[in-house]
Amino acid sequence: MNIALKVWRQKNSQTPGKMVDYKLSDVSPDMSFLEMFDVLNEELSHKGEEPVAFDHDCREGICGMCSMYINGRPHGPETGTTTCQLHMRSFNDGDTIVVEPWRARAFPVIKDLVVDREAFDRIIQAGGYVSVNTGSAPDANDILIPREIADEAMDAAQCIGCGACVAACKNASAMLFTAAKISQLAVLPQGHAEHQLRAERMVAQMDAEGFGACSFTGACSVECPKSISLDHIARLNREYLGAKLASNNA
Ligand code: SF4
Ligand code: FES
Repeated sequence: MNIALKVWRQKNSQTPGKMVDYKLSDVSPDMSFLEMFDVLNEELSHKGEEPVAFDHDCREGICGMCSMYINGRPHGPETGTTTCQLHMRSFNDGDTIVVEPWRARAFPVIKDLVVDREAFDRIIQAGGYVSVNTGSAPDANDILIPREIADEAMDAAQCIGCGACVAACKNASAMLFTAAKISQLAVLPQGHAEHQLRAERMVAQMDAEGFGACSFTGACSVECPKSISLDHIARLNREYLGAKLASNNA
């Protein structure tokens, strides 16, 4: 395959970026999208040019690092697929592919296609855990959990924190991510004890990070590589409302 690329190049967060054109020939349809970038970077290095900076770690759809906006869609054209699991056979010979970083104020560009997603870490630090104040963590099998509840928690726990939901949202909202992290704990007995405090703290941190509000358009769920359901946002709203009513009554 012969491919034309338009890639966002940006030296650092202080310097303005621009699209740069590249051409690649003999691209195998069985290459992953990141392998295609490896080939491009090798060619750039041979020519003495700066390789394109991009994030990746597992290359197995697990770590959520491979944040690329491809032809106007986070993680590219396939449903339920991360950039690292996307293959060149999803494109046609002669295609022009436009690749940009996530665009959101809360995810500043570090370099080229790499953005800073520490805002997500700070949302988790605000409450995305179960407190264990004495002794060690109880054995997971001590508390029996009905199958449907465990499945619901696992559905939410599939979120890999990639940030595609934020990139897809016209408001750059982090509601789907935050909702998944709240849901996976709220439905389990171990996490239920702190469910309201957790919702209050994580939403406050989400707002403090500069993410936008949710207008329930649903682009986040459509573009999420793990197909996290909007139902979790509904649960987050219930948890948050409950927390606010409880603290007002107190
Ligand atoms: S909800 Fe989906 S799109 Fe958002 S961070 Fe989690 S896995 Fe990525
Ligand atoms: S590199 Fe880990 S999910 Fe893509």
